[in-house]
Parts: sequence; C-alpha cells; structure tokens
Amino acid sequence: MSQLIELEPVTPRIGAIVHGVNLTKSLSDEMFQDLHDAWMQYLVLFFRDQQMTPDQHLEFGRRFGELHIHPAAPYCHNNPELMKIHTDRHSLRNNGEGWHSDVSADEEPPMASILHMHRTPSNGGDTLWANMYDAYEALSQPMRDFLEPLTAFHSMNYTGYYGDHKPQRENPQAEHPVIRVHPVTRQRALYVNSGFTKRIRGVSRVESDALLQMLFEHVKNPTFHCRFKWYPDSVALWDNRCTQHMAVWDYFPETRSGIRVTVKGDKPFH
Ligand code: SIN
Repeated sequence: MSQLIELEPVTPRIGAIVHGVNLTKSLSDEMFQDLHDAWMQYLVLFFRDQQMTPDQHLEFGRRFGELHIHPAAPYCHNNPELMKIHTDRHSLRNNGEGWHSDVSADEEPPMASILHMHRTPSNGGDTLWANMYDAYEALSQPMRDFLEPLTAFHSMNYTGYYGDHKPQRENPQAEHPVIRVHPVTRQRALYVNSGFTKRIRGVSRVESDALLQMLFEHVKNPTFHCRFKWYPDSVALWDNRCTQHMAVWDYFPETRSGIRVTVKGDKPFH
C-alpha cells in the first residue's frame, strides 16, 4: 500500500478511519487503489468532515461500480440511487435496526454501501459492523464443514414497510450459499443474516430454525464488531460481502438523517 492515505484502525480486525482523503474531489487512480486496498483489509472505512454534494457522493459510489437501487426505500433529489436514511419522532422504525447485510435477498446483492450522514442526534445513533470472516473462522471445524455445502433462502416483504411510498420493484428473494467466498480476497465469510435469511435448504424446518438462531446469536459476539459515532458529514463505506451492520435507535425523539449510495455486487458463490 502506498503512503497517500493515513489509517487509524478502530479495532484490530474491523474498521479504520481514513485521513488525508477529500471525497469532494475526484480521486486519482493511485488514491483509489490505496483506499480499495485499505477497504479490503479493514472491511469498513470511515471518513470525517466530508461536505459532499449528492453528485459527489454518486461519483464516489461509481468508482466502485454500477449503482444499486433499493427495492422499496424512499429516496432523495428525485433519484432512486440516493436512498434516504431518516429517523425522527414520527418514524415507525429505524432503517437497519437488526443485524443485516444490505438487501441480501437480491439475486446479486450489493457489494458496497456508502452512507453520508447529514444530521445527527445530540448523542447516540451509532452504527455497529461485524466481521463475517471472523464469524466464519470462529465456528468449530465440524460446524464449518457442515455449513460449507448449504444454501439459504433470503427474502423480504416490503409491503407497507415505507408507508405510502411506492416500491421501485418487486419484493426480492434469492438463494445464496451459507458460506460465501469473497470475490476479491478469496476468504470465506458467513453469509446469513437476521434481516433477510429465512430458511436453510436441505434440512428440516426445525433444524433450519435452530441453525439460523444459533448463527444469528453467533454474529452478536462483540469480538467481531466495531462501533462508529457519527457527526454531520461523516461517511462510512462498508463491504456487504463480508460484514453485517446494525443501526442503534437510542435517540428518540431526536432526528438522524443522511443519504446512502449503494453499489451493485455479484451473485455470491461457494
Ligand atoms: C443501513 O444502511 O442499513 C442503515 C445504516 C445506518 O443508518 O447507520
């Protein structure tokens, strides 16, 4: 890795704050490569004081690939690529409250998400991320061997989820490996999450429920986690292929809002 950026790790295994990058400017190829290398190492990168416009946010997202459109979430500036992240005293729920990997119910789930926070509560509203390589590695060898060939069904019914906002497309559903291989690092990651994964194939309903409950509990182990405190103009870039995250709603009745740009990914493989 070259010396163009400075990294301040949040934990030894996941999350780093990046210094020396201005996301309101086009990044040189060398700078982008440094960021990408750091992202592969730390899985989630954080940036402070980035007064990005929505166009600059979109441009940063497009450096990673084609942009993803959420199936149903409301969006900003009349552009469905700019997903609205907003919770206030009138909200019925907080986006991303439970552990999940973004829209894993898509056939080709998003590889990356980039959240630019605009407004934060006076305290609270942190987000946690969990390292799914470590979650996989921490399973016993017999359990890894057992899970290796299995697939799971992911789905989400967004009907009524976002009030009277008209969905962008049909409810997503897909079958994916329980253990996926990351297309860049080639490392194995646990790929079931409590937000979207409904059923493990090839085992009974009782067995599937027990296995999923065990795996969802496993993901909650704090040794896999980092936690980020947001300020206005903080940005997080995370890899949905090897992390899960959850947003804490501990600031009612205050407001927290931002915009998420999401990047399309590939079909997960074993
Ligand atoms: C999400 O994208 O799942 C929401 C994350 C957050 O609001 O911190």
